[in-house]
Amino acid sequence: MGKPRHPRLSAQNRACERVLAEVLGETLVNRRPADRALAYCLKRNRQYGSRDRRFFSEAVFAVFRWWGWLRQLPDSSALRVGDNPGGDGQDSLRLEPRQSAVLLFAAILVDHPEGALDNLSVWAETLRIPESAWRPWSHLEQPEARFRSLARHLDCESGDFDWRDLLPNWAWRELAEPAPPSALEKLALWLQKRPPIWLRAQGAISAEGLAKILRRHEITAVPHPKLARVLKVEPSPVNLYTTEPFRRGMFEIQDLASQIIGLACRPQAGQRWWDACAGAGGKSLQLADLMQGRGTVVATDIRPRKLEDLRKRARRAGFSNLSTRLWEGKGASGKPASFDGVLVDAPCTCSGTWRRNPDARWTTARNDLEELSQLQLKLLRAAAEGVKRGGLLVYATCSIFERENRLVVERFLEQAPEFSLRPLAHPATGMLADGCLQVWPWEEDCDAMFVARMIRSQ
Ligand SMILES: C[S@@+](CC[C@H](N)C(=O)[O-])C[C@H]1O[C@@H](n2cnc3c(N)ncnc32)[C@H](O)[C@@H]1O
Repeated sequence: MGKPRHPRLSAQNRACERVLAEVLGETLVNRRPADRALAYCLKRNRQYGSRDRRFFSEAVFAVFRWWGWLRQLPDSSALRVGDNPGGDGQDSLRLEPRQSAVLLFAAILVDHPEGALDNLSVWAETLRIPESAWRPWSHLEQPEARFRSLARHLDCESGDFDWRDLLPNWAWRELAEPAPPSALEKLALWLQKRPPIWLRAQGAISAEGLAKILRRHEITAVPHPKLARVLKVEPSPVNLYTTEPFRRGMFEIQDLASQIIGLACRPQAGQRWWDACAGAGGKSLQLADLMQGRGTVVATDIRPRKLEDLRKRARRAGFSNLSTRLWEGKGASGKPASFDGVLVDAPCTCSGTWRRNPDARWTTARNDLEELSQLQLKLLRAAAEGVKRGGLLVYATCSIFERENRLVVERFLEQAPEFSLRPLAHPATGMLADGCLQVWPWEEDCDAMFVARMIRSQ
C-alpha cells in the first residue's frame, strides 16, 4: 500500500472511526448517553486537539441522527440494534474499520457535507468511491437525495429509507391521534435538523442590550420578534460559557420551547412558586426572573448535585428570592396548599429533544414509557398538594408522546376534581389551546415540549 496522500486527514479519519466504534457500542448496547460516552472516550485520549474533538463530535452525532437509514446499508446490516434497546440480545458491538468508514462517510454526506469535504474525499478514496461520483451528490440539496445516491452506488436497493425509519417503529404508535401522515413526516424531517442555540436574557438587561454586548464578543444573537427575553444565536466558534456576560449572569442558554413553559406559568412579582422537579434550575431561574426578583421560588429535586448547580447559577444571576430543598416526590414540600403556583417539569423520555440528542431515540425503549407515566402521575399528585385555592398547577414534559402528556393530565384530573384545565395561548404563535399545549419544533425552530395549565378551585 502506498503512502496516504493526506496524512493529517487520514489520521483524523482513522481516529474518528475508532471513536465512533467505541461510542456506538457504549450507546447502542449499554444504553449510555452518547455525550457521556464521547466525553469518556476523549478524556482517555488527550492527544486530540479541539478541532479534532469538534469534528469527532459532529460526525458521531450525525451517525446517530441518521442511524435509522445507515443501519440499512450493506456494510452495516449486521448492526440492526436500536429498535429494542436492551432487548436485542447483543452484549457488544464490533465495528470493522470499513464499516466505520462507510457509516461516517454516509452520515457526514447526508448531514453536513459542506463542512467536511476534505475528510469525505479521503474516506471516498479508502472506500474506492470515485470523486466524479460523490462530489455531485454532495451538491444535492435534499439529504434524502444525497443518501439515496450513495446507497445506489453501494448496490443497496433493498433498503426502505423511508422517513418512518428515522425513529424507532414503536415511537410512531405513541404519538397523538389522529395525526395525518404529512404531519408525521414533518416531525421526522424536523428531528433531523440540527437545532440552533437559544438564549434567555436575564436580570436588568433587555434582549437588544444583550445582543449589542454579545456582538463585542463576536457573537451574533438575534432577539425574537415576539418574545421579549428570547434570542437566537448564529453559529459561532466562540464558547458562550466562557464569555464575560455569561459569567455575570446576563443570560442563560435555554431552548425556546423550554422558555415557553416558564412563560405559560405567568408568575407575578411577589407570588410564591414551587418548581418541584427543578433539576439544575433552568426554569426556576426563569420564574425568578419573570418575578423580577420579588416573591419566592422554592426549587426542589431528588438529586442534591443538581440543586448545587442551581445554587451556583442563582448566585451568578444575583437572585436572592430562590431557595432549594431536597424533595423525594412525597406530598407537598413545606406547608400544603401554600403556593400560588406549582410547576412539575417531570422526568420523561425527553423525546422532544431528539433533535439535540439523536442517540436517545435508539436507547429509549417502549417499556420506559409505562414506568415514566406512572412516576409522572405520582409526582403530579404529590406536587398538587402544594397549590393553594385559586392557585395554578403547571405540568410539563419535553416529550412528544401522549402517554406522558395528555393522558397523564387526564388521569390526574379524574382523581383530583378540584383542579380543572385553564385555556392558554401559545406564547409565540398566539394559537389558543384548551389547557394542554404541545409545542412543535417547526413552530419556532426549537425542541418539542408539552405543557398543561390547571387551576385549583377549592
Ligand atoms: C425534566 S428534568 C427537570 C429539568 C429542569 N426543570 C430544568 O428546566 O432544567 C426532571 C427532574 O425531575 C427529577 N426527578 C426524577 N425523579 C424524581 C422523583 N422521584 N422525585 C423528584 N424529582 C425527580 C430529576 O432529578 C430531574 O432533575
